[in-house]
Amino acid sequence: MQGQGTSVSFERDIRPLFREVDIDHMEGMGVLLADHKWMSNPKNAKSVYDFLSGDKEPRMPPGGPYWSDEQMKLLSNWIEGGYQP
Ligand code: HEM
Repeated sequence: MQGQGTSVSFERDIRPLFREVDIDHMEGMGVLLADHKWMSNPKNAKSVYDFLSGDKEPRMPPGGPYWSDEQMKLLSNWIEGGYQP
């Protein structure tokens, strides 16, 4: 998890939140959840964030389990922190 005073790291904090099934399914659709380079494109990161949070309820992963508030916060902190590897 995120240590005090350190920024959120993709490899350490974000990448482990995706399950193999998430990575595998989405890779086939060109959504490269495990790929820092793809994820650190602001458009892609926002799109992933939006699908995870959804409108009324999360859209991804289909049927859940949906990400907790804490996990969503980690993702938004990673984005705000400038997509650190
Ligand atoms: C840019 C973001 C994303 C887009 C555009 C997207 C789009 C889609 C679409 C169109 C499908 C197939 C149709 C459906 O079952 O609803 C799908 C399936 C799936 N997505 Fe995503 N998705 C995104 C992000 C994610 C994320 C962040 C996760 C998990 C953390 C995820 C996990 C899955 C899984 C596991 C499936 C397969 C479900 C199954 O077949 O049982 N997706 N996604």
